[in-house]
Amino acid sequence: MFHKTLDKFPQGFLWGAASAAYQVEGAWNEDGKGLSVWDNFSRIEGKTAQGTNGNVAVDHYHRYQEDVALMKQMGLKAYRFSVAWSRILPNGEGEVNPLGIQFYDNLIDELRANDIEPVLTLYHWDIPLALQEKYGGWESRQTIDAFLRYCALLFDAFKDKVTYWVTFNEQNVFTTLGYRLEAHPPGVTDVKRMYEANHIVNLANAKAIDLFHKMVPNGKIGPSFGYGPMYPLTANPSDVLAAENGEAINSDWWLEVYCKGRYPKCIYKQLVRLGIAPTILAGDEEILALSKPDFLGINYYHGGTAKVNIYEDADQVDKIQLKTESVTDPYLMQNNHKKSRSPEQLMFAGVDNPYLKKTSWGWEIDPVGFRIALRRIYSKYDLPVFVTENGLGAIDELTEDGQIIDDYRIVYLENHLLEMRKAITDGVEVIGYCTWSFTDLLSWLNGYKKRYGFVYVNRDELDEKDLARIPKKSFYWYKDVIATNGSMIE
Ligand code: BG6
Repeated sequence: MFHKTLDKFPQGFLWGAASAAYQVEGAWNEDGKGLSVWDNFSRIEGKTAQGTNGNVAVDHYHRYQEDVALMKQMGLKAYRFSVAWSRILPNGEGEVNPLGIQFYDNLIDELRANDIEPVLTLYHWDIPLALQEKYGGWESRQTIDAFLRYCALLFDAFKDKVTYWVTFNEQNVFTTLGYRLEAHPPGVTDVKRMYEANHIVNLANAKAIDLFHKMVPNGKIGPSFGYGPMYPLTANPSDVLAAENGEAINSDWWLEVYCKGRYPKCIYKQLVRLGIAPTILAGDEEILALSKPDFLGINYYHGGTAKVNIYEDADQVDKIQLKTESVTDPYLMQNNHKKSRSPEQLMFAGVDNPYLKKTSWGWEIDPVGFRIALRRIYSKYDLPVFVTENGLGAIDELTEDGQIIDDYRIVYLENHLLEMRKAITDGVEVIGYCTWSFTDLLSWLNGYKKRYGFVYVNRDELDEKDLARIPKKSFYWYKDVIATNGSMIE
């Protein structure tokens, strides 16, 4: 679709930036906070880059006023942050920690006093350790009850101060990394357990949305999904089908539950066939149907590319693997799902996209994919879209006179904003855009080298230094973007 002129960004567009509690706050054991699974996991040798942890992070807990002052200086319209469940309920349930509520109350007041819309994420991966140990975390239905109590406390405390709420951040990512690839807590490698835990989170999400609508009738809530479109490698219909398969298992599997309140039938049938479908009890379908989000949050970094897998490719002569019943044969998962990590093998083969460059961390850079993503999910689900994350992880270096000239970040964001503007012109309703992130912060697995912020934080993996905040060149660029309500993006 070619447009001679592009539509303006809507009035009141939420130009924002995002963070997560564990990645910025620090103060891991202060003012009554309990432990989260990440406080524990990061202590296990070899799990994080150079043993980095969130004990201090970028000390936002103590410096939130300074950070909000910088947001104000920039003219930021929205700040997305997450609440650490273990600050509110140190054991995940039971006694409430009033100092935890107080911290977020102060932060929200500070944001509001500076005309910044708070966007509150209820869960960004840091489940209280006590719930993990007592119930098995997201593998137990008791955790749903604990989560709802936690949600109700926050709904009640902030219903008059916070309009935009996010339930779960990237459920697809934390269940995959936590239960299948052992890269995140609880460090499991069992695809069946992943789908079981994922089902529990789906139930929690649906119930939380329903509770929210009862308790905060004027608010808006939705999940934030890590989304990127799947492309076929070629116009070969088998590759196109492979990409459809990839889109279905990587995204529809979650998005249909969020937006339509039920599992997509083909993927569900496939998981049943493989013996890895989640256990659905009587009443679960009714609970899933309660999921009626007001918007769909998406975190966009990149998509993926697929070609036909070896099992379905007529030109593939080497099908020996299938016949030999080696342990890598995915069909064996039916009996031994721990041996295989990939039900996708039967559906598509993931490949590099020959048209795209990558970041230093191997993430594809694909602004046009952003427009495709917005178009695709808007036409499929017909919900306003809130871009809750997008950004570039890069190595930023201080110049001798103490500046960060991050032109590469400006180019990255500019290209993505232009595609978003085109998508808006196409007809997609986008209500806001949060970059990842405002200040530099702790990357879960990559330490402090991989920086995303508009504001440099003077620390590294091994040395906390003075944690000074230094606005980067991109800070002033985004300030202008906001001041012109995006009209300079053309
Ligand atoms: C998103 C997460 O998946 O990606 C963030 O919501 C995360 O919490 C971000 O930090 C970037 O990931 P990484 O691995 O580059 O730090």
